[in-house]
Amino acid sequence: MKIGVLTGGGDCPGLNPVIRAVVRKAIQNGHTVVGFTEGWKGLLENKYILLDIDAVSGILNRGGTILKSSRTNVYKVPDGEATVINNLKESGIDALIAIGGEDTLGVATKLYKAGVNVVGVPKTIDNDLSATDYTFGFDTAVNIAMEAIDRLHTTAESHNRVLVCEVMGRHAGWIALHSGMAGGADVILIPEQPFKMEEVCNVLRKRHDRGKSFSIVVVAEGAKWDEADQAKDGMVLQDKELDSFGHVRLGGIGNLVAGEIEKRTGFETRATILGHIQRGGSPTAFDRVLGTRFGIFAAELIEKKDFGKMASLKGTEIVAVPLEDATGELKTVNPELLQVAATFFG
Ligand code: F6P
Repeated sequence: MKIGVLTGGGDCPGLNPVIRAVVRKAIQNGHTVVGFTEGWKGLLENKYILLDIDAVSGILNRGGTILKSSRTNVYKVPDGEATVINNLKESGIDALIAIGGEDTLGVATKLYKAGVNVVGVPKTIDNDLSATDYTFGFDTAVNIAMEAIDRLHTTAESHNRVLVCEVMGRHAGWIALHSGMAGGADVILIPEQPFKMEEVCNVLRKRHDRGKSFSIVVVAEGAKWDEADQAKDGMVLQDKELDSFGHVRLGGIGNLVAGEIEKRTGFETRATILGHIQRGGSPTAFDRVLGTRFGIFAAELIEKKDFGKMASLKGTEIVAVPLEDATGELKTVNPELLQVAATFFG
């Protein structure tokens, strides 16, 4: 078989381990692998490279994706679906592995319904994909954010400041929750639970009343502050323009929250925005192993011609789930988990 692979959407650490595993396993099984470049864009333009063992040598520890990525949506391009199907035919591709998040796998689901032999691998630092316990990339992002929060603690304490740390997480607060819990944040704000600024300030006042001179607030970029002027459905935007999957560009909540805390409490406050640092650099051991297991499993699904499925982590096992189960609904933070974190607020 000739197998095509692509990586779509925002990149994340762990993509290269998946590509490496797919290639090694598929070649062992006697197949040829090619990689379409820049996600669905590469497939629309029929741009691909040969992925032999040499091509994937030395990439296990490398962040990003050797195939590059884009947020191109096949279904926003005139005749996109027909072009993809035609290009796959012309290049003699028998099966396709799409590595991506909600958007990329949403396209994969539609293509599967249109007759393409596709399997999926779940990726996103946001960890908001349904039908899998974890996506690779998340663990690395959480560890980066946790280390940043540790560092913010020491400077916050030296200067008697409140430090607000803005992390990624559009609709789900997994990164904020996990990094905030691991880093001992005094307040964690996530999109799942819109917040009132006065309540946040009261938590900080209470903490300072019991003798603490500094605090750490972790806020997800998609956290909803209903009173904000720049808000769209409570979310603070950098840019109202939509990308081809209909997403606005978030960002700015950290600065707004910091300004407001200082104004209302009188505590000196600064904001740090971690941004794409959370998506860059080497994957953690957890993400390298998860990516490797997902990649091997995806190659095995192709071997069994079990198309329309996605590799998924359930407990400690990798299992197959229908592609469409992954994209139907976002996996958001359970309020009970936020309550666990809230035990330490204030
Ligand atoms: O989807 C993953 C993610 O990292 C989000 O948390 C974030 O909102 C978005 O991508 C930013 O994407 P970009 O800046 O690459 O468009």
